[in-house]
Amino acid sequence: MLVALGLVFYAVRPIINTSSELAPTDNARVELEDERDALFKQIKELERDHKLGLIEDSDYPRLRLRDETRAALILEKLEDLAPAPVQTRRRTSLGFVLGSLTALALAGALANVFVVPGLERLALRPQEAKDYENAAKLKSLEAVLNAQAKAGSAQAVTLLEYGQLAWEIQDYNRAANAYGEVLRQEPKNVTALARYGQILFFASAQDPKLLDQSLALLRAATKLKPPSSEAWMTIGNILFSSKNDPQGALNAWKEYQKITGDTGSPRITQLMSAARKRLSASDPAVKLFATNCAGCHGSEAQGQIGPNLRTSKNAQNAAFVTNQIKFGSKNKKMPAFPQLSSADIGLLVKYVTALKP
Ligand code: HEC
Repeated sequence: MLVALGLVFYAVRPIINTSSELAPTDNARVELEDERDALFKQIKELERDHKLGLIEDSDYPRLRLRDETRAALILEKLEDLAPAPVQTRRRTSLGFVLGSLTALALAGALANVFVVPGLERLALRPQEAKDYENAAKLKSLEAVLNAQAKAGSAQAVTLLEYGQLAWEIQDYNRAANAYGEVLRQEPKNVTALARYGQILFFASAQDPKLLDQSLALLRAATKLKPPSSEAWMTIGNILFSSKNDPQGALNAWKEYQKITGDTGSPRITQLMSAARKRLSASDPAVKLFATNCAGCHGSEAQGQIGPNLRTSKNAQNAAFVTNQIKFGSKNKKMPAFPQLSSADIGLLVKYVTALKP
């Protein structure tokens, strides 16, 4: 709980440094950096030991959370050592662009997402060098945004760049702040809409009320020109995983394919076949086939004792299939199904004749 609170605090801190406190000495920075590096090393070792089986599964999450929390606190302190403190009174408080309440709800939800279900989703992933690079860039962009805010208001281009970097290191609180500010300036910015919508989706794991807001933003992002392929992808994910609507998901992913031209990547192939599977599981014809026919023709009609119905010419002929089911095969190898109603036979015939190799 403490950690969650810490992260909420961290999350809603304004991006722009509004304090003009004296920068602590370089010594303090060096000390903190050493401490940080030592902790990162420790986390790596912990990870390795866990992989080697030296640390129990039951202990690992606690130990990892302990070290990551310490590291987060140190990063927090380091962050406060701004090299050139901005001499300004509180002006633009970018951290609160979402409206304090939304920001708090979102940050709270995100903090919980980070802490509870998967430690690997913590913004801190010390093993990835690129994250450090991005974190450093993020910091220098913060200085630029500070300067812009001082001169009037932060610029959308810079905010988008900042949001992108934060997004890449999975710092969704900062990303949300940046994209939120872009939306305040340009309510129809397609990137910001799509990203904000996705972040709300992540946050909805803790606060289900956010799910519909997320969908609304994502749908808006698909109606702009050019439409957002990311938004279509996430709409599909939401419909599939949270709304139990595999057909809707398939439609959304088809739109994604239209925009990206991605018809064969493993990711989209897997997603679509999962949706098709779930769709057909609720199809009564699939159930009828599974109980009456799959035993001999295979669950995918690929052929076992009986022939492959996907490649059979006879199986594409509705009259033939109807007879086959009603009377069995001439050689009596396949039995008749007098117990099936004509409605069931109708469903089966439609199903079998539509099978593709
Ligand atoms: C006990 C095993 C068995 C079951 C159960 C069974 N079949 Fe068959 N099926 C066969 C065999 C064996 C053949 C090949 C018969 C032959 O040699 O003519 C066949 C042939 C067929 C054919 C013709 C294929 C062709 O290329 O000529 C169709 C269509 C067919 N089955 C559909 C079904 C349907 C639909 C069901 C479920 C209602 C079903 N079968 C259940 C064993 C079975």
